[in-house]
Amino acid sequence: MDNRLKIKKRMVSGIKPTGSSLTLGNYLGAIKRFVKYQNEYDLYLFIADLHALTLPIDPNELRENTKNLLATYLAAGLDYHKCVIFKQSEIPEHTQLEWILTCNTDLPDLTKMPQYKNYKDTHKKQSVPSGMLMYPSLMNADILLYASDSECIVPVGLDQKPHVDLTRFVAENFNKRYPNTFTLPVPLIAEQGAKIMSLSDPTKKMSKSESDIGTIYLSDDEETIYKKIKKATTDGEGKIYYDPENKPGISNLLTIYACIKNISIKDAEKQFTKQKDYGIFKKEVAKAVCDEIIPLQNRIKQINQRFILNEILEEGRQKAELIATNKLNEVYRKVGLK
Ligand code: AQP
Repeated sequence: MDNRLKIKKRMVSGIKPTGSSLTLGNYLGAIKRFVKYQNEYDLYLFIADLHALTLPIDPNELRENTKNLLATYLAAGLDYHKCVIFKQSEIPEHTQLEWILTCNTDLPDLTKMPQYKNYKDTHKKQSVPSGMLMYPSLMNADILLYASDSECIVPVGLDQKPHVDLTRFVAENFNKRYPNTFTLPVPLIAEQGAKIMSLSDPTKKMSKSESDIGTIYLSDDEETIYKKIKKATTDGEGKIYYDPENKPGISNLLTIYACIKNISIKDAEKQFTKQKDYGIFKKEVAKAVCDEIIPLQNRIKQINQRFILNEILEEGRQKAELIATNKLNEVYRKVGLK
């Protein structure tokens, strides 16, 4: 067999340690997928601790969340021998490249980003932290540092797609000025589970910074999970089928069930076509969530007791640094800093 066919494409992604616990959305939309991807791609997975500073966060909380996020990666099945796991702040090249990319990005390309616009609209009376405007530029650097000779794949939730589009745009412009510097990254959006919605308002994304009854945290106990799903907003039709526009609540529950069971939404629908009682359906969804989450919590506890977390991060740092230093040196030479 041609050896080149065996080379895996590179993939890069990260999660912000912004909450004491991740959500079911983070788990189904990102972590569970990473576990599969680590076998298919050359995966560079970072803890996006610099991004966690975008909005104010307590230092002890940030340290604790970082540890917890790493333990969650491992407990979910990410294997640090198969993928490179590291802390973003330990690779200074992320911020060094960010500055160069920022100098090659027009301001309107940042102000049109949906997260910035949403923040501005929902915090009308407050000033907007500059980090809210600039963090997409840091994301550009996070990705482009690892954009190797072959395609660099970026798995994203639906809301993050505009960021990868921006990264491609910035890389293209940079390449026009400094030819052949970056390989254009390619977004990979999951066919299902790319946007798990809030249980209380299924028109909104489930988020870890929204502490309400609509968010399932990976740290929730069984009783809380059953309670939250029982209270999930649905509709009065008494029929279970997938129609995100007209039945967002039921569609969200079907998506959660399908992602956990590793089946298609169509197959999930088939299992419940004869069920008219939403209460029974919700119990089935809650059971599926608990069967996945409770054992995960036990594994997180065990991992936290094993105290090898710093060694794993150090191993990851060394591997990530090799790639990042090479790329930054190349960029430094191209722009004239070296
Ligand atoms: N509800 C979701 N459905 C599917 N995927 C989701 N992700 C987040 N929420 C959902 C995916 O999780 C990864 C990491 O996200 P992040 O923490 O870096 O940023 P985020 O998207 O802003 O996540 P949160 O939970 O909403 O955090 P806060 O509340 O702090 O802003 C990404 O791959 C994301 O798509």
